[in-house]
Amino acid sequence: MTTEALTIEKLDAALGATVHGIDLREPLGTECAQALRDALFEHQVLFFPGQPLEDEQIIDFATNFGSPNLYPLVEMLGGTESLETVADGGDTKPVAGNWHTDVTWIQEPPKIGLLNARIMPDKGGDTLWCDLYSVYESLPAAMREKIASLMVGHSPGPYFYNQVVAPLGDDNFLDRFKERYGDGSRHELVRDHYVTGRRLVYLAGGFMDHIEDMELEEGRALLRELMNIADDPRFHVQYEWQVGDLALWDERSTMHRQDPSHWPARRTMRRCTVS
Ligand code: OGA
Ligand code: MN
Repeated sequence: MTTEALTIEKLDAALGATVHGIDLREPLGTECAQALRDALFEHQVLFFPGQPLEDEQIIDFATNFGSPNLYPLVEMLGGTESLETVADGGDTKPVAGNWHTDVTWIQEPPKIGLLNARIMPDKGGDTLWCDLYSVYESLPAAMREKIASLMVGHSPGPYFYNQVVAPLGDDNFLDRFKERYGDGSRHELVRDHYVTGRRLVYLAGGFMDHIEDMELEEGRALLRELMNIADDPRFHVQYEWQVGDLALWDERSTMHRQDPSHWPARRTMRRCTVS
């Protein structure tokens, strides 16, 4: 494929761009792949309307950006597929309604995320992304200085244990999961992006457990304060899905969350991440 027809249109929001003039079922070719990688890191999230891909086509497309990951929980359950389904509706409640960044409780979290909409409710079920560069840039100088060299301990945390892990197995499964991942990971709170070099505040919602070398409650209050700042629509883009739309996002410079207001109506996505 060539870049001749490719158009990348920045959205009227803090982040995000819509991509037209491309068929993601076809091999991208080096020129197109490079143009999309550049656009992804510039805009942080790319939306590709009307790209209802087969599973294999999703994996082929995702591979242009890195190696598809096996989700830790899928692996523990004996699965071998990088492609997952995010489904809610009826008895299954949405679980991604709070701001988060994916799997930051491992030391090498996914770098890029992908969703492809399969079943969409009539109303609600949007996804929101938050621009962590702008959040950082908005902080007063005193706050920037205060957080400059802090390390954050990340862990799956109670919400993830109870709402995501526990329903997948018996008590023993939750115990095995905690044994394997309960120690979590540690990440710098302020970091320079590995591609763009731009400084950002690496927030991950409920996966942030504590700040190292700080009294527990004081650290948690500071993390809450930063999350409150980030929860401002001026840092966000909200995407209203149509069936077949595909989104690709940078997991380092953004957080995301679902708008779960459609529930109990049904909503289904295919999903993968790459590293
Ligand atoms: C995810 C996620 C949000 C959504 O797949 O990691 O958080 O809107 N999804 O489905
Ligand atoms: Mn997520």
